Amino acid sequence: MYSVKGLVDSGFHQSAIPSKFIIASSSQEDDTILSQEEAIPTIDFSLLTSGDPVQRSKVIQDIGNACRDWGFFMVINHGVQEKLMDDMVKASKSFFDMSEEEKGEYNGKQLFDPIRSGTSFNVLVDKSLFWRDYLKVHVHPHVNSPNKPACFREISQEYCKRARDVASELLKGISMSLGLEENYIDKAMEVEFGSQLLVVNFYPPCPQPELAIGMPPHSDHGLLTLLIQNQLGGLQVLHNGKWVPINPLPNSILVNTGDHMEILTNGKYKSVVHRAMVNNKANRISIATSHGPPLDKVVSPAQELVDTDFHPIAYHGITYRGYLELQQSNELNGKSCLDRIRV
Ligand code: OGA
Ligand code: NI
Repeated sequence: MYSVKGLVDSGFHQSAIPSKFIIASSSQEDDTILSQEEAIPTIDFSLLTSGDPVQRSKVIQDIGNACRDWGFFMVINHGVQEKLMDDMVKASKSFFDMSEEEKGEYNGKQLFDPIRSGTSFNVLVDKSLFWRDYLKVHVHPHVNSPNKPACFREISQEYCKRARDVASELLKGISMSLGLEENYIDKAMEVEFGSQLLVVNFYPPCPQPELAIGMPPHSDHGLLTLLIQNQLGGLQVLHNGKWVPINPLPNSILVNTGDHMEILTNGKYKSVVHRAMVNNKANRISIATSHGPPLDKVVSPAQELVDTDFHPIAYHGITYRGYLELQQSNELNGKSCLDRIRV
């Protein structure tokens, strides 16, 4: 079975990568502007839950600014145990270390199958292949896990539960930052029964990192994505026309707003475009959980954030499931999927 890791492990020692991994230069035209000076905002999660109303309203304001200006922030003091995050990275590594045959059980499955592994984004529509293998597991409202490696089920369930708790607390803060009631998003999006997708990304070392890409520029579906990684850089966020490399503090969690946050807030909080670069040194592993409404929920802009004069409705409503199908049937390319539902 085919994977980038399989290619690298197969004794492929050439200095040139197969041509199908070479990203067309036209898609990289404006990719040269890197911003080294800027850094994404940091949010101290403990202030949200400390019970001190002054600190809480300050951090809610910070979250609102981060969502409005960046769509990306780093959360510290989130309470998720360091060991659990380490174990999650290790369990993920163990998954990709299994034989191609063992991983193959989950290969080439359909979009809504509970467990799916593969390479690139969607080999049926990708023009070039991305230097990335993945495992995607629908973990909520129905719990799923691959049976192997043996440790994966328990660790991933525990980690995903903790990630849901953090997301849910952040969604309260985000609701309040919008001038809405604390549980507004929770209720409107039925987050309690919402869909959570675990995506493990595995980026093997690439002999020509400047020619390939791990994940092309894209925005995420869902309301929020939480991301942890092993200590290798590669993630970049598009901010004011420049790519900002992200170097997260150890044990922090990266959070970004997704397309459904943009739809729900009628564009007030935009989903942010980001990409993953590759390196020629070591395996990079990142673990993302996306948090969204139930699959059959129609998401449309919140009435409270729409008015005909200044904030006319900007997006057509669509079920979360329909949106995922739309995204999967097209090339992963910036915010092209969101563009399709703009009014
Ligand atoms: C994603 C993603 C970035 C990374 O999984 O959607 O953008 O750094 N990952 O792996
Ligand atoms: Ni992403």
